[in-house]
Amino acid sequence: MQRLDKLLSEAGVASRRELKGILRAGRVTVNGATVTRGEEKFDEQTARITLDGAPVELRRTVLLMLHKPAGFVTSTDEPGSRTVMELLPERWRRLGALPVGRLDKDTEGLLLFTNDGQLAHRLISPKSEVWKVYYAEHEGAAQEADVEAFAQGVTLADGTQCLPARLRPIADGKCHVDVQEGKYHQVRRMLASRGLPVTYLKRVQFGALELGDLPRGEVREVDPVIFTEV
Ligand code: URA
Repeated sequence: MQRLDKLLSEAGVASRRELKGILRAGRVTVNGATVTRGEEKFDEQTARITLDGAPVELRRTVLLMLHKPAGFVTSTDEPGSRTVMELLPERWRRLGALPVGRLDKDTEGLLLFTNDGQLAHRLISPKSEVWKVYYAEHEGAAQEADVEAFAQGVTLADGTQCLPARLRPIADGKCHVDVQEGKYHQVRRMLASRGLPVTYLKRVQFGALELGDLPRGEVREVDPVIFTEV
């Protein structure tokens, strides 16, 4: 059982203070009856709540995938820059969905959002061993020695040691890179450390989840069950 004002504020309807007025005005019903007191408690699993006659969706875990275009920073607030939050429809922002990890401003592709902090942590943590797959275009041509170096764990220019990763050349200047961690500019720096500077980078897969044909700039809801093993 939960207080009605808590349920409504967590659902993103309005702030606790605004809710007082909304409730007093008789705009909220629960299970068919008008309720004017926010202190009344209801079962969040079964309560059917409406505001101005429209059903209110109670807070639930949301997992979303965005096909991030280049030019957007992965941040909730960065003055002077366009952020990925601008691409998230209001109904999901109100449910508290936030980016899971980061993609660089110039990187495109699959960016997850969730309002479940623990799930976000598990998805990012290298301990969870979730593979993130990137498609990269780069100068030069990857050699067998580069594939080997990735498998061993590359040492970046500043001495940072990376976990073992996979470099899968596609053709000269094109490859897939699979990593389980997410250090700053990691894939760009890994390839640069092998003399293969990146000219284009896109994340195409996150664990079992593929970007597929999701158009650039669009968001799709994902069933979190895809990450139950994580
Ligand atoms: N590695 C990078 O270099 N950039 C990203 O955005 C993600 C991984």
